[in-house]
Amino acid sequence: MPVITNIEDLKRIYERRVPRMFYDYAESGSWTEQTFRDNTHDFEKIRLRQRVAVDMAGRSTASQMIGQDVAMPVALAPVGLTGMQHADGEIKAARAAAEFGVPFTLSTMSINSIEDVAGATTQPFWFQLYTMKDEDYVGRLIQRAKDAKCSALVITLDLQILGQRHKDLKNGLSAPPKLTPKTIANLMTKWAWGIEMLGAKRRNFGNIVGHVDGISDASSLGAWTAEQFDPSLDWGKIEKLIALWDGKVILKGILDAEDAKMAANVGADAIVVSNHGGRQLDGALSSIQMLPAIMDAVGDQIEVHLDSGIRSGQDILKALALGAKGTMIGRAFVYGLGAMGQAGVTKALEVLHRELDTTMALCGEKSVADLGRHNLLIPEDFGGRWMDQ
Ligand code: GLV
Repeated sequence: MPVITNIEDLKRIYERRVPRMFYDYAESGSWTEQTFRDNTHDFEKIRLRQRVAVDMAGRSTASQMIGQDVAMPVALAPVGLTGMQHADGEIKAARAAAEFGVPFTLSTMSINSIEDVAGATTQPFWFQLYTMKDEDYVGRLIQRAKDAKCSALVITLDLQILGQRHKDLKNGLSAPPKLTPKTIANLMTKWAWGIEMLGAKRRNFGNIVGHVDGISDASSLGAWTAEQFDPSLDWGKIEKLIALWDGKVILKGILDAEDAKMAANVGADAIVVSNHGGRQLDGALSSIQMLPAIMDAVGDQIEVHLDSGIRSGQDILKALALGAKGTMIGRAFVYGLGAMGQAGVTKALEVLHRELDTTMALCGEKSVADLGRHNLLIPEDFGGRWMDQ
């Protein structure tokens, strides 16, 4: 096994190990992938201010997200089909997160079900909700998450309709993979993945299959979202969901200061500034570009988290210094999971933690709460301003 020192190392192993269809699913943005690329490139535009001769002994990355103690302000983001990246992937990622002391978020479109993860872990996790046209089903999903003692509901707002990802269409993405000459040829080169997958608890969407009647195709994310997701979701419906949950709520997928104000007004506990990892509106600005304007609009009213583009501890520090109280990682943990299962998720968290800790020290900071814009050099044209502002 090569020495793994960064997230890119995990990605290289992941690419070799996991069937192309699932690698492509994780590694895609929508349409031209401009926003997907900007998410990572824009972090590079921000520079860090080096300070020296500052006592940095006894520093700590520990913090809180929505009032919960975290070893570092990083949560595992909800990622669809995680259990196709590695057998029982959601259970393994949840266990790694709990051992590390950071939150895990289970996607509605997961392979392991809410009950599978609750039964195999001891720490409460967060549940991510997609709203569907079938209100009964949504009500039952929320009840299942309550029964599983999930400690937050993460409602995703930026995927009422799926942004097109060319590779998924061309690959015929499905769970389980449909056997065509192309997929069989690829699967034959991924035998270790396949052997483990034979022993997996599930190979289809665990929160859906067996819980909904009369669906035409529950194996395809594209077909399911097109048929079932609620295109009429609006702030009124969001308020009703918040009331139904009656616990901590995080609204994910906010990329505009006006929407952030609406989220603060409906009584959510936190928002996630996110463009869904560049998988939805291609042409949108990166999350890190939008963060300053959103902090200016609602930073004193609601807790703000950020995802999309985080691949290093330096990226985490930049988001925190711009005012985010927490961050979410998606691909960064999926690379680890696909590469090495639970140990790979732990490895990804260790890599990010070491980078965050060392970078804090070299910036002369002892605590994440002390990070601020004073740590950064930001280009003048940074931060989204729209034509009507
Ligand atoms: C679903 O959440 C996706 O982005 O594929």
